[in-house]
Amino acid sequence: MADQYQSKAKVLKSERLATDVCRLTLLCPDIAKKARPGQFVMLRIAPAALDPLIRRPFSIYQTTAGGQLQILYKVVGKGTGIMAGLHPGDMVDLVGPLGTGFPIDVRPRHCLIGGGMGAAPLFFLATWLLRHPDAEPVVLLGARNREELRAIAPEFENLGIPVGLATDDGSEGHHGYVVDLLADSLTGEERPWHVFSCGPYPMLRAVAKLCHLRSRRCHVSLETMMACGIGACLGCALPRAGLNGYLHVCRDGPVLEAGQVAWF
Ligand SMILES: Cc1cc2nc3c(=O)[nH]c(=O)nc-3n(C[C@H](O)[C@H](O)[C@H](O)COP(=O)(O)OP(=O)(O)OC[C@H]3O[C@@H](n4cnc5c(N)ncnc54)[C@H](O)[C@@H]3O)c2cc1C
Ligand code: FES
Repeated sequence: MADQYQSKAKVLKSERLATDVCRLTLLCPDIAKKARPGQFVMLRIAPAALDPLIRRPFSIYQTTAGGQLQILYKVVGKGTGIMAGLHPGDMVDLVGPLGTGFPIDVRPRHCLIGGGMGAAPLFFLATWLLRHPDAEPVVLLGARNREELRAIAPEFENLGIPVGLATDDGSEGHHGYVVDLLADSLTGEERPWHVFSCGPYPMLRAVAKLCHLRSRRCHVSLETMMACGIGACLGCALPRAGLNGYLHVCRDGPVLEAGQVAWF
């Protein structure tokens, strides 16, 4: 745990961006300083309470030089329900930054494709890529509907990079899955493409398959259930490609080369 910390973090801001999408801004300088795109934190939401006892994993959405760290999340259950009720001044307990980050090489072109809250680690990645003038990232975002998409997309659009949009119900952008936009985006052979993706498992499987067929390099960020986040409980195990043992998403990932995973 040399570059990882357990820190008490003060809530600076708690925003609701859509009915069930929120953003939390925390002050935790140690973790924010070390964090790299694709890494995550384990958050103990109510440190003084017994329930929920188990920390919850969240990707790092962005950090600032002033030691702030943001999380973009969907309210899906007990822990995230409590998070949505946090107020400025409340304290939470964080462990991080954890896991592997996205491998960043500015030579290829980058396509970042996210579904729902899978956009969170990709925003951090996009801001890092933009530090390099040659990176030219392209972003594709999918959401259930316009309301969810509008909670996610504006920050990417404000970066001034191309952003393709899709919604399941057709209320904005392409009517259908965001993966439908991927094939047309990976054009031009003069510079190779590197695809980075995060989102629901079936979406990642479809992205991995397309990239394999088109011989494009692809990294995915996987979101399995996690109890410890540090390789101790084995709760996040996934079969390796070739059924050659198991990967532990918290320790070997969450960012993995798509070819490492046995996709089911
Ligand atoms: C590395 C990693 C990064 C993540 N980053 C984000 C993020 O940036 N934003 C975000 O909104 N969510 C993210 N998640 C998912 C997030 O951890 C869960 O949504 C959260 O733990 C749910 O807590 P809860 O107490 O509200 O839900 P619970 O009450 O524990 O469960 C509610 C429902 O959510 C399901 N669920 C719980 N955890 C997961 C999970 N890990 N994957 C899929 N379904 C789950 C349960 O099966 C149940 O149906 C990430 C998960 C991982 C592993
Ligand atoms: S979450 Fe415990 S080993 Fe990965």
